[in-house]
Amino acid sequence: MHIDIITVLPELLESPFGHSIMKRAQEKGLLVVKTHALRQWAVNEYGQVDDYQYGGGAGMVLMCEPLVNAIEALSKERKYDGIIYLTPDGQTLQQSMANQLSMKENLLLICGHYKGIDQRIRDHYITREISIGDYVLSGGELAAAVLVDAIGRLLPGVLNNETSALTDSFQDNLLAPPVYTRPAEFKGWKIPDILLSGDLKK
Ligand code: ADE
Repeated sequence: MHIDIITVLPELLESPFGHSIMKRAQEKGLLVVKTHALRQWAVNEYGQVDDYQYGGGAGMVLMCEPLVNAIEALSKERKYDGIIYLTPDGQTLQQSMANQLSMKENLLLICGHYKGIDQRIRDHYITREISIGDYVLSGGELAAAVLVDAIGRLLPGVLNNETSALTDSFQDNLLAPPVYTRPAEFKGWKIPDILLSGDLKK
């Protein structure tokens, strides 16, 4: 799977994919994540990518032109199965959505910042809007990291034991059970007897 991310803050996304399962997924060639700094498509030499809102509301808005140029340039490289905008008023991310998206080949994620992106981009390019919860972050970058992690770990071959994603919480609409490791007793706190019975089914 190939995921491109357009952002005004690529630095924010340097770490989340550089460790643990996401790192392994990329090393195995199962996942490619590329961040693209929106400023390379800035409208002037000052690196401008945002402007004031019409109507005078507080906060800046990411402009149409840099976003269109970014989306068009990246779309020449590959055909996207979805152009996703991370936004608090999008559809709330659920495991079923991550499962569905994990079956796509190419995704383009767009991170808003400040007050978001010009509505015309949403109207003309965005195919899906996703929120990671009912709270407002400073930008879509952390939400994009959450989405990529949720999708990336589902790609076949990413986890060592394929079944471990299947037994995650939410995969069967149930929460995963509590888990324990050795020792069986610590400070007098014992693990449930049934786990020592040797009967895996139980
Ligand atoms: N951008 C700002 N807040 C967000 C949220 N809760 N989900 C997705 N993108 C966001």
